[in-house]
Amino acid sequence: MEEKIKRLEEARAKIVAGGGPKRVEAQHQKGKKTARERIEALMDPGSFVEVDAFVEHRAVELGMDEVDAPGEGVVVGYGLVDGRQVAVFAQDFTVIGGSLGEMHAAKICKVMDLAVKVGIPLVGINDSGGARIQEGVDALSGYGDIFYRNTLASGVIPQISVIMGPCAGGAVYSPALTDFVLMTDKSSNMFITGPQVIKAVTGEDVSAEDLGGSHVHCEKSGVAHLRFENEDATLAAIRRLLSFLPQNNLEDAPLAAVSEPPVDPAALADIIPDQPNKPYDVRRIIEGLVDSGDFMEVMADYAKNIVIGYARLGGRSVGVIANQPAVMAGVLDINASDKASRFIRTCDAFNVPLLTLSDTAGYLPGVGQEHGGVIRHGAKLLYAYSEATVPKLTVIVRKAYGGAYIAMCSKHLGADQVFAWPSAEIAVMGPDGAANIIFKKEIEEAADPAAARKEKIEEYKRSFANPYKAAARGYVDDVIEPAATRSRLLAALALLAGKRETRPSRKHGNFPV
Ligand code: HXC
Repeated sequence: MEEKIKRLEEARAKIVAGGGPKRVEAQHQKGKKTARERIEALMDPGSFVEVDAFVEHRAVELGMDEVDAPGEGVVVGYGLVDGRQVAVFAQDFTVIGGSLGEMHAAKICKVMDLAVKVGIPLVGINDSGGARIQEGVDALSGYGDIFYRNTLASGVIPQISVIMGPCAGGAVYSPALTDFVLMTDKSSNMFITGPQVIKAVTGEDVSAEDLGGSHVHCEKSGVAHLRFENEDATLAAIRRLLSFLPQNNLEDAPLAAVSEPPVDPAALADIIPDQPNKPYDVRRIIEGLVDSGDFMEVMADYAKNIVIGYARLGGRSVGVIANQPAVMAGVLDINASDKASRFIRTCDAFNVPLLTLSDTAGYLPGVGQEHGGVIRHGAKLLYAYSEATVPKLTVIVRKAYGGAYIAMCSKHLGADQVFAWPSAEIAVMGPDGAANIIFKKEIEEAADPAAARKEKIEEYKRSFANPYKAAARGYVDDVIEPAATRSRLLAALALLAGKRETRPSRKHGNFPV
């Protein structure tokens, strides 16, 4: 037995060594951890349990019969994050460049199946040269098997993808099918076709970083949700993100201890400028409302005209969606609609209530927007809010004009409680535009058109640019002082804790994409 145990220890040590000291050193030289080091940093100390360490490839062509691939280039298993079970796979770039062959994929699929079966989140750490070229269609089938499972697991368990190296070709579609994509600056990139192929086909010269680095996907493409300057910060963010999410779609996110925001509630009123067109940062309001002022913003650098992220109210996780008046007057456009609607659906799938803060003059006018399909994209917001059955709380802090009044989780889309601040303006359109249209004749015919215009704008404001018309219809449940907002939200969430709302049975809706 002793000898057999020794053999086991030797075999395991070989697997743990991955591609060997030289390749591990090369990995470290690039500022990258190894797959095992990443898992260690992610999980609670000593909690990781490896599965399938002894799996081997069975490829023989193109010299593969001579190739030893410890662990098959991917480390898989499960462990604890803040005491909660999480499944994980981490591709090992030191072994054949983390390339994905038949058995490498089989290991990933097995841990995905396990995560779904027991209802725990899956974290996938990507660092790979893509499909293992020597394995041909067996590699491709492996990707297909993963995509299929990503899709079936969607909305059942949280799936988080982390990019910590190359993620090229069709490999990018697994992260794209998951709920969140996190990237580490400089060492990670994602693209369908790399710089060399692009050069050959289109003649464009671009570096891997400028083609698919973290800044590209967090600022321009919207493919990634979060980026961090190093791996430690990226892995810490996964732990934080998981703390806002339940283990699966049948559970609620864990309750945290309640702590008050660091802002005097009375100071909330001072954030809204007296002049209706003056910008302010809506994050100041969010931080003034939520527990400890702690807000985990998601996609902070993409479509900055809308702010999304996680926070807690009375210890309960909430997803916040807020127009950002500091950027493009908080207007809704194609990218903002995409960003917010996807987030709303993620929250709804995982039983996280929605808190919407509305201050927007409407959808962005422009040929580019219309030709880009703002109708189709803007519809996503309406669909996502209407479809969501989690508790939905809305605070209209300033402007709620036109379609945007409806789209930002109005009563009409099923909001459970709608509060308006006294500064709220709820109408079909803003006073300037409205006066120009409905009082056109009077203004033109007046002795002093400029003065007449001013007077008509004031008249319109008195009638419509306030929350009371909507409150009179019951579309706003209450007009409240800003200082009372947190306590009203806490009371509403407590009321809605047992909310159960069903939808007609159907195969699935037809979400506008
Ligand atoms: C087999 C691979 C590999 C691959 C890397 N390696 N990618 N082996 N299949 N796809 C091997 C290398 O031969 C090398 O082996 C080791 O991994 C490390 O790679 P290097 O090139 O030395 O590393 P580096 O210089 O850091 O470059 C990394 C890289 C480059 C940018 C990822 O390796 C590369 O461009 N690889 C190919 C990328 C690619 O085109 N993949 C296919 C995408 S198509 P040795 O023994 O020398 O250490 C795809 C289709 C999926 O994925 C479709 C799904 C629908």
